[in-house]
Amino acid sequence: MRSLISTFVSLLASATFTVGIPRSGSGTVTAKARAATSTARSNTAAKAAGKLYFGSATDNPFLNEDATYKAILSDNTLFGQLSPENAMKWDATEPEQGVFTFTNGDVIVALAQANGQIMRGHNTVWGSQLPSWVSDSGFDNATLISVMQNHVSTVIGHYKGQMLTYLTMYAEPFNDDGTLASNVFFETIGPTYIDLALQAARAADPNAKLYINDFNIEGEGAKATAMENLVTDLKSRGIPIDGIGLESHFILGEIPTTLQAQMEAFTALGVEVAVTELDIRMTLPETDALLAQQQTDYQTVVSACTAVADCVGVTVWEYTDKYSWVPSTFAGQGDADPWDENLEMKPAYDGIIAGFSS
Ligand code: XIL
Repeated sequence: MRSLISTFVSLLASATFTVGIPRSGSGTVTAKARAATSTARSNTAAKAAGKLYFGSATDNPFLNEDATYKAILSDNTLFGQLSPENAMKWDATEPEQGVFTFTNGDVIVALAQANGQIMRGHNTVWGSQLPSWVSDSGFDNATLISVMQNHVSTVIGHYKGQMLTYLTMYAEPFNDDGTLASNVFFETIGPTYIDLALQAARAADPNAKLYINDFNIEGEGAKATAMENLVTDLKSRGIPIDGIGLESHFILGEIPTTLQAQMEAFTALGVEVAVTELDIRMTLPETDALLAQQQTDYQTVVSACTAVADCVGVTVWEYTDKYSWVPSTFAGQGDADPWDENLEMKPAYDGIIAGFSS
């Protein structure tokens, strides 16, 4: 049995950070409208639809502190795949130059193995969550290439063969207008940093699937076209690339109408796709109407993956509102996940089941 590590990325540069946002309003949500009614299991449904998995991101603090959360995550009829939300990022794995720590990532890999779940890695090269010894180093071109190659080789090499079938490499190379995003790798090495990172990843684990992930590529537009052009160029030059991750951090009611068409445009290039970080956030407080719209939106996204043969699976970026990154990142927004803060399934869960059944 094999699985994979996938690496990708993103942090929204314009995101604002707030704490203590009310997650739901009193009197606006009825118990009946809030609960899911489906008895089907999400990973079972994904497999019945021909997908490899339905999965979730997870992070070590939640696993350590919340046994109920961990037990639900460990049910492989619900989740067939895990992504590490932070544990394999650069600042977590190489906080000092040449000093690697895999403890937290290893915990998540061991959990996935114990549960019979596929592992996707996340992520090896990204402009965010870099330790300052990388981002503020002033390294010259040759030095940063060496530092980057060593990081990719060491992290992916560490996880090689550990039941990781998918290795997603990197993330978020583009600005919304389709130009390459500014990060220390692009500024120092130039666009070939993407080639070099992918080649180092392939060398470190030839069986791992290499993905590039990004956000705002889920519908047709300049950024999606730029991703198509990048993948076409990589393939034409023999640079390894196996998949495109559509992060899918959506706003309620704003699922791109061209989502399925864009997935098909990507897979037509000869790569697979995956929905790698799905959440659908609303402006708080919750209402019955917003929960119903969220159910529809989850179904729309999952249906698109179901309809595209080379869409391998759907991963939510945490399955529960209790631990979502959204409220602390997007002021006034939240309740983006299919389980609520009490670890109960929401109507969005019914949307997922319906999406795999369509
Ligand atoms: C987020 C995590 O969920 C947070 O815990 C962390 O503080 C910041 O990063 N796109 C990505 C993910 O590729 O790595 C990001 O994860 C969310 C946006």
